[in-house]
Amino acid sequence: MDKIIVEGGVALRGEVQVSGAKNAALPILAAALLAEGEHVVANVPDLADVRTMGRLLSSMGCEVSRSPTPRQGDGGEKLGASSSFLVRVPARVRPEATYELVKTMRASVVVLGPLLARFGEARVSLPGGCAIGDRPIDQHLKVLTALGAEIAIEHGYVMARVPSGRLRGAEFGFDVQTVTGTENAIMAAVLAEGTTVLRNCAREPEVADLAAALNAMGARIEGAGRTEIRVQGVERLGALRHTVIADRVEAGTLLVAGALTGGDVRVKGFDPVHLAALVEKLREAGAHVEAIPDGLRVVGNGPAHPIQLRTAPHPGFPTDMQAQMMVLLAVGSGSSVVTETIFENRYMHVLELRRLGADITVDGKTALVKGVPQLSGAPVMASDLRASAALVLAGLVASGTTEVQRVYHLDRGYERLEEKLAPLGARIRRVKA
Ligand code: EPU
Repeated sequence: MDKIIVEGGVALRGEVQVSGAKNAALPILAAALLAEGEHVVANVPDLADVRTMGRLLSSMGCEVSRSPTPRQGDGGEKLGASSSFLVRVPARVRPEATYELVKTMRASVVVLGPLLARFGEARVSLPGGCAIGDRPIDQHLKVLTALGAEIAIEHGYVMARVPSGRLRGAEFGFDVQTVTGTENAIMAAVLAEGTTVLRNCAREPEVADLAAALNAMGARIEGAGRTEIRVQGVERLGALRHTVIADRVEAGTLLVAGALTGGDVRVKGFDPVHLAALVEKLREAGAHVEAIPDGLRVVGNGPAHPIQLRTAPHPGFPTDMQAQMMVLLAVGSGSSVVTETIFENRYMHVLELRRLGADITVDGKTALVKGVPQLSGAPVMASDLRASAALVLAGLVASGTTEVQRVYHLDRGYERLEEKLAPLGARIRRVKA
């Protein structure tokens, strides 16, 4: 199992390019199931979760291959560069996502909507427990039922079918805003008969990117990115040709790294509008953040000022940036309060940060982060994707050596993070353990 070794103390400097967004690429690859033929999705990051989605599509009978996307300046041959995915979808697929695949990646559940829409049946394993919280899929099942699916849970699987053969448009309001739930609902509704109106939808940029990809296939979706989405069902869709948006969480992680190390980093190739809430909090904490063509520049400016931070659905502060931001506050100049409202157990990084000398106490949803002047390097263990990114960031400012174990969590969602940080001056390397 790989480890990442970081020697702290270097202020990061330079420019870094952001990869394609994992959480947009996954549902967009699943959307290929909605039409027979050859589909091309560009700017897909090379990540463990994307490879799992490729395996899932292959297991259903699709042919999946990858080719490098040439990028300006790098010739496209560089290791770790996002690349294009080619998915050939046959007339019939095996409409099943097995436990083996779903247990490695919960996002596999996004095949449910497309399978039901196109084939009228699906057998998808229920995702089990998750390190960051309960994460039920009741809203996915409720909206699909509203669209005319019959759903039963048998032997750990969601067994879904459409008795009439084709889903019907319906009006549905989500009880909670759910990103993949909204995505499943849209992908189900695009081939349904009639109009679907979805309320209280998730407004994440990844939902809007999926809708853009579907509309390019011939779907008729309006309002994606807002809370009310209207879908006029169509008989069939054409080929998928889409370039995935850049990963706002990777961009955010790199911005925090720049601020945290007192560096000067230009993060390029993404839409800063997607990170407005993070930028506001970075500025409140004292970092200098300015717009540059195609991205943002961050300049660190001494220890972070204490702030209050509360995660919320987009456009609020993203839960996927909570752990990384906590590292900045952990070496800040006062006491900050962080409240996690999306997932009930997303503080797994706290115990590990304490091993590095951070002063953080958690009480339910709230963490009190008392800034300390310096962290000190130690071996630490990653527990989930964003927690592992936070531990790498902590290593960048800790004295001595930090060794982050269980790097497979990091590799699920970051395209070789060490290769993005090293050219900025970070003393970071991966070792095969
Ligand atoms: N929820 C329900 N019922 C449902 C669905 C969700 O109660 O049927 C609750 C969840 O328990 C949670 C809240 O609704 O409290 C929001 O969860 P959501 O469904 O939006 O999360 P998700 O779709 O499973 C996506 C991202 C996550 C990200 C969250 C929140 C993908 C593939 N995953 O998950 O990304 O944290 O939205 O923004 O898009 C990550 O990349 O590290 C990651 C975990």
